[in-house]
Amino acid sequence: TIEQVLARRVWDSRGRPTVEVEIVNADGSSGIGIAPAGASRGRHEAVELRDGGERFGGRDVQEALRGIEREIAPALRGRDAADQEGIDRMLIALDGTPDKSRLGGNALIASSLAVLHAAAAHARQPLWRHLAQGREVPLPLPQIQIFGGGAHAGRRVDIQDFMVIATGATRFSQALEMTAEVYRAAGELMAGRDALAGVADEGGWWPDFARNEDALDTLVAAIERAGFTPGDEVAIALDIAASEFGAGGRYRLALDQAELDSDGLCERLLRWIERYPIVSIEDPLAEDDEAGLVAFTRAVGGRVQVVGDDYLVTNAQRVRAAAQAGACNCVLVKPNQAGTVSETRAALEAAQSLGYGTIMSARSGETEDVAIVHLATGWNAGQLKVGSFARSERMAKWNEGVRLETRPGGPAGFAGRAALAGRR
Ligand code: PGA
Ligand code: ZN
Repeated sequence: TIEQVLARRVWDSRGRPTVEVEIVNADGSSGIGIAPAGASRGRHEAVELRDGGERFGGRDVQEALRGIEREIAPALRGRDAADQEGIDRMLIALDGTPDKSRLGGNALIASSLAVLHAAAAHARQPLWRHLAQGREVPLPLPQIQIFGGGAHAGRRVDIQDFMVIATGATRFSQALEMTAEVYRAAGELMAGRDALAGVADEGGWWPDFARNEDALDTLVAAIERAGFTPGDEVAIALDIAASEFGAGGRYRLALDQAELDSDGLCERLLRWIERYPIVSIEDPLAEDDEAGLVAFTRAVGGRVQVVGDDYLVTNAQRVRAAAQAGACNCVLVKPNQAGTVSETRAALEAAQSLGYGTIMSARSGETEDVAIVHLATGWNAGQLKVGSFARSERMAKWNEGVRLETRPGGPAGFAGRAALAGRR
């Protein structure tokens, strides 16, 4: 049973306050949950509780901490951490709002994750195995950013993530090795054109490009320079994050000086799919443009993975509605979009039961927390996205995957390219 619940403010990878909850069981086992934070958030995500005002740009979390101390902690004490669903139901009811805005999605997810860790610790199991419940589960296929953009790089380019997927890798650690070479080659190419200007929020190279397509050309050149065949061995994944530059079916690509409607953006993206070895596209249209998402998914015809992030916000009901409408074929799963572990799991399982691909994902504001790697593995998500191949809040996750791969009795193999939705 849960004996102690401690709430404290810690700091995320952007140097901003965030919520940490530590839970101690009566037997001394314990678990820590930390809330991550997005910068390009979906409109229907669980709402973070921030203090506002002057301090830390209005982003302090004292109110969220108070809510945990006054309401969540007393409600958790004496309960069995193994009852994740019961506890999450209690947290949702305690908050009482549809968007978790009263106690805060940040307070709820930190508490819910701490409960999960405490339950695994009590069972003396690594988290991934605790979640796998005896099933054979593989390590996920990584999606790794090479250039950052959009809201993560001062909107230097419109597109948010230019990523690679090591489709030729047969082990998790091999996927990292291949990506390391591509990341390095991309840095050398940027340096060669005097365009090396540091890194963006998730550790990808700062995107000093004149057009969005320059980033794609450079990515292909980097894959080749690293010695890999584009497409066969290393392929491209994009997060367009279109909600950041469009709404109501109107899109403004500032870098390309283009004003496009929904069809226009679809056509441009389809052209990129023809010209470049792209295997995955996330949020190709804005979260409110369901007709566009359906049309794009249909036009793609299952050739590539079409991922819903802002549009689906890790919500089982929205995932089922999207499947009915025929939008997307893959779901990005972010625990803090949902606000509790159980709702995250429900969204993932809804996607899996509908035959959709699933990608467990970190946020642009992260910490040393590596829970996401265990969730991706234990729940057999198949794919994992945590940003680039630099900065320790990112590398902590990749390194945790290496640990799981090399420990005796670890996960069963590697999901590999078969985890991708789409048959390219
Ligand atoms: P965010 O971006 O964490 O800033 O929302 C990540 C993503 O869009 O996938
Ligand atoms: Zn996204």
